[in-house]
Amino acid sequence: MHAAEIRARFLDFFASKGHTVVRSSPLIPGNDPTLLFTNAGMVQFKDVFTGRDARPYTRAVSVQRCVRAGGKHNDLENVGYTARHHTFFEMLGNFSFGDYFKREAIHYAWELLTDVYRLPPEKLWVTVYHEDDEAYAIWQQQIGVPATRIVRIGDHKGARYSSDNFWQMAETGPCGPCSEIFYDHGPHVPGGPPGSPDADGDRYIEIWNLVFMQYNRSADGALTPLPKPCVDTGMGLERIAAVLQHVQSSYDIDLFQALIRAATRATGMTAAPPRKPLEHFSVRLPLARARRQYGDRCGRSRSPSRSDGGDPAAIPNTQNGEATQGKPMKNALETALKVIADHIRACAFLITDGVIPSNEGRGYVLRRIIRRAIRHGYQLGCKTPFFHALVVDLAREMGSAYPELAAAQRRTTDILHQEEARFFETIASGMAMLEAELSSIAPRVHARSDMVSPLLSGELAFKLHDTYGFPLDLTADICRARGVGVHEAAFNAAMARQKERARSAGKFNPEQGKIEYRGGKTAFTGYESLRADASKIVALYAEGEAVERLYAGQRGVVVLDTTPFYAESGGQVGDQGMLSARDARFAVTGTFKIQANAAGHHGTLEYGELSVGDAVRAEVEQARRARTMRNHSATHLMHHALREVLGAHVQQKGSRVDADKTRFDFSHSAPLNRAQIQRVEALVNAEILRNAPTKARTMPYDEAIRSGAVALFGEKYGDSVRVLDIGFSRELCGGTHVARTGDIGLFRIVSESGVAAGIRRIEAVTGEAALRHVQMLETQLLAAAGALKTMPEALCARIEQLQQQLKTLEKERTQWQAAQAARQRDALAAQVVEIGGVQVLAAQVDNADARALRAAVDALKDQLKHAVVVLASVHDGKVNLIGGVTSPCNQTIHAGELVNFVAQRIGGKGGGRADLAQAGGTQPAQLSSALHTVKAWVENQLNLTERYSPAK
Ligand code: ALA
Repeated sequence: MHAAEIRARFLDFFASKGHTVVRSSPLIPGNDPTLLFTNAGMVQFKDVFTGRDARPYTRAVSVQRCVRAGGKHNDLENVGYTARHHTFFEMLGNFSFGDYFKREAIHYAWELLTDVYRLPPEKLWVTVYHEDDEAYAIWQQQIGVPATRIVRIGDHKGARYSSDNFWQMAETGPCGPCSEIFYDHGPHVPGGPPGSPDADGDRYIEIWNLVFMQYNRSADGALTPLPKPCVDTGMGLERIAAVLQHVQSSYDIDLFQALIRAATRATGMTAAPPRKPLEHFSVRLPLARARRQYGDRCGRSRSPSRSDGGDPAAIPNTQNGEATQGKPMKNALETALKVIADHIRACAFLITDGVIPSNEGRGYVLRRIIRRAIRHGYQLGCKTPFFHALVVDLAREMGSAYPELAAAQRRTTDILHQEEARFFETIASGMAMLEAELSSIAPRVHARSDMVSPLLSGELAFKLHDTYGFPLDLTADICRARGVGVHEAAFNAAMARQKERARSAGKFNPEQGKIEYRGGKTAFTGYESLRADASKIVALYAEGEAVERLYAGQRGVVVLDTTPFYAESGGQVGDQGMLSARDARFAVTGTFKIQANAAGHHGTLEYGELSVGDAVRAEVEQARRARTMRNHSATHLMHHALREVLGAHVQQKGSRVDADKTRFDFSHSAPLNRAQIQRVEALVNAEILRNAPTKARTMPYDEAIRSGAVALFGEKYGDSVRVLDIGFSRELCGGTHVARTGDIGLFRIVSESGVAAGIRRIEAVTGEAALRHVQMLETQLLAAAGALKTMPEALCARIEQLQQQLKTLEKERTQWQAAQAARQRDALAAQVVEIGGVQVLAAQVDNADARALRAAVDALKDQLKHAVVVLASVHDGKVNLIGGVTSPCNQTIHAGELVNFVAQRIGGKGGGRADLAQAGGTQPAQLSSALHTVKAWVENQLNLTERYSPAK
């Protein structure tokens, strides 16, 4: 049964059961940041399951194109090495949105498989989630599957819902227990039933997954029940086709035969004499037949038996491990053809759905798939682009099921060709470098079989990435075939270093430097007009390479014969705007000189196509250009004013003019004071008020200088120069300027600073930006006045008054604190008792931290002379304790021991010197009684030793 018929019967069957046939959605999920690509049939219905979206039907059926590369479900690495993995596949699915549930889902699946597709029931096995008694009972009692062929699949490591029979689309989203149907390819194929240790073999292949959607998983992992239980099923078209076409590998089904033939042709594998390295091998036939034909010579056996009388191609398929042993030549060819046939599907459909090869996100995944395919072709001997040539075969094969694929055929071919041409320029050098490194690593692998796999250096992997365009996973793929790993951490570190270098290199535009333009000059019409109605495209570039055509979504550079766009130079930024043709629009994000007299418009083609030779309307974004011009003209006036105010030594040292402001660096040794700044502002604004017309003339350089025009030191000028008169200034300048000085509006200096020895920098604004700046200052002023409850005019006086008040209060506070401390000391002194000639004080003080306590202890020691002082305070439920003993009493009474004795009574401990010690405690309630013990302790110490008498 052909794939087309399998699709049709699936749709017809479910349509007859009341399901609405829904078209495949594109591979780019609409508005879903949780997913890179559509990876299952249910993706377009995700919000219907959760109840956020509603459809006019509750039963649906679809054949959905899916990609599993990059992201959560990623099969890219396995493609080519197994019988059943694909980057692109089609998923047949039926869905119930709160309509039927387990019973009907299971009955429908069984009826389709056994009645419509006529699979022998005894070849089917099923699995259920281990807790799902309901599904189990339906399979056993209603369908009649014997218990020996129903397997309960448990959770991983006991974590609930972690089982293979619990399906979820991504980290978040709808999910639920599932029941899978397996096909038994027969005892001649190695592998065990589902759930058994060798379930990964190829004998029992999962063909259909019935998911009983019950929950929505949120980002924190919590499961909430869906509004209504739903059904989501998925059957891989390629797998069911393999079963129905009696082959074991999905690469042997009809859909793939044509593509493998095309890959064989495109890589030149039919040519005789065959090329190295596959000297003995020439493929004319699709894989299964090739295997049959060459089976004996390559040491592979034919299928021992055919259980079902179908196509005699049921040969165990190559698996990764076994494939690389034995006959590497033959397997390299098989793997390469499978990779190419698989990847053309993913790449062509991704481009059809709007993805463009690039260096980030989806575009980068696409680039990685394309480059992986090219690498496999390269190893078969292809030295020029071949991959794009398969698009026509794919369109022939799948274009009727997917008309959008056929419609985009030319564009897809072209984009693939561009990408291939770029990679083929560097692949040979990259492969040679990698080969050299691998052959120096390889002997070590064989020398020590017990060693962990050796690693390719991360720096080399990075160089391959950076200079030769080898994505990391491509390098890893090549290394893996040789038993070598890649030092990923070192790769990432090299990548991070490069990003840092790029950042510190500032605004360097990488695309700019790469362009090699050999065409004529661009005529610039942007002094007079901001629009040119029929500019001709004379060259196009994508990622630095010349191309004939740009496609929607592509970034690139457009060169025109005539343009009103100013290309960045003389400190003025390049223009932005739009290039448009009848069905295409290119958004210009910057204009740069790609040669002295040629401008490149950088940007993105928003829609349509642009080809060399096309006419476009070029429109500069007016508002941005107008603001830039005001800033540029004001810069000339300011330059002149600075020379007037500061002296003729002022010379321009650098400038940057954009739509927001002008930044002007000039030679001058000291900061400008307020008066100088205001004088410059006044001179410039006076020229603005004069509203003089701007005059531009072209004349010989010498004449210009004689006429008093200011030229920039160190700048190169041609023989003939453009002299610009703006108000009182005359400069040589190629920039764009206002027609009259009055157009500038208002001029304000917003900052003045030093950038290097002898160089000052001024930033200034004009027009609305100047107004906004003044308004912002005024708003702040009013807010400050409001906060101090006064008028802006009285603000300074009010601030002075407040500062005076603050000073007075500060003084009063200091006096008060001193008095307070004295009072406290007196109060403490009153608590002193005398024991054996020693004055003993143990007391609690309020609001004192450890520092204040220590100061108080020191002061008391000075005041009391022969004394033992223990002071404590409580702060935040903790007790601070400081003890001091004057000399020479401290020869008898040790402050550290005393403090420790007290601290033990308040849940703490501590110690220190004989004259001063500190401790803490955690039981403030015990503090009072603890302090009471001090006197007895001192008495005891004195009794234990000879009585101390200061009189003696
Ligand atoms: N969404 C389910 C799967 O992809 C059917 O297996």
